[in-house]
Amino acid sequence: MIKVKSLKKNFYTNGKVIPVLKDINVEINTGEIVALCGPSGVGKSTLLHLLGLMEEPTSGVIELFGTDTSVLDANSKADFRKQHIGFLFQFHYLLAEFTVHENLLIPVRIKNSTADPRDKIKDLLKKLGLEDFAGRYPNELSGGEQQRVALARAVINRPGVILADEPTGNLDKENSEIVVNLLIDEAKNCNSNLIIATHNTELAKKTDRIIYLRDGKVT
Ligand SMILES: Nc1ncnc2c1ncn2[C@@H]1O[C@H](COP(=O)(O)OP(=O)(O)OP(=O)(O)O)[C@@H](O)[C@H]1O
Ligand SMILES: [Mg+2]
Repeated sequence: MIKVKSLKKNFYTNGKVIPVLKDINVEINTGEIVALCGPSGVGKSTLLHLLGLMEEPTSGVIELFGTDTSVLDANSKADFRKQHIGFLFQFHYLLAEFTVHENLLIPVRIKNSTADPRDKIKDLLKKLGLEDFAGRYPNELSGGEQQRVALARAVINRPGVILADEPTGNLDKENSEIVVNLLIDEAKNCNSNLIIATHNTELAKKTDRIIYLRDGKVT
């Protein structure tokens, strides 16, 4: 379960305060799949970065699976992130010098799992229709294929929460459909929370609930 209480985020540029998130209060149940919507610049990405412990809130509390994350130091946050959180971005950010298999191996190794991940990687690639691509480099794949590999990377450690920021923003209609369906399937499989920031209303309709942000608050 995810609980966000009185969350505030200001940015500071050129001596000016930019209040982006003003007072966010929201609870997301275990396994719930939600879309995060609202106009451009409203703070959707900012909220995902805060939920992923990649940025510090100005004030307020983010509770993830019973842990109040505001009391964690930087090392504990990094630990928490690798144990519980998976990210999927608009641009895949796969590592160009590594093969598909190696790109998936990295998060498993970072998590410090002792189990041999080879079968797990193979199974996941098969499920995503990528079984023939394990030895290829990212630049040898289409945009949709790259995004499916990034999806595999986001879910390989079966995170409690998957944060997806415009995961289909860069894809055509057909590939968007494929990626979203796979993403929702994987989240359901792992009983993970899935939070998708998106402008795509078709995509948003597939989730359990749409959270709208407006003027720094949930409406
Ligand atoms: N590091 C920063 N410094 C100053 N302002 C920032 C910073 N990061 C984001 N902002 C501002 O915060 C606001 C929210 O940005 P954010 O990227 O969260 O919006 P968004 O809802 O994801 O928009 P989009 O739909 O276009 O992706 C914007 O006005 C943006 O200019
Ligand atoms: Mg954004």
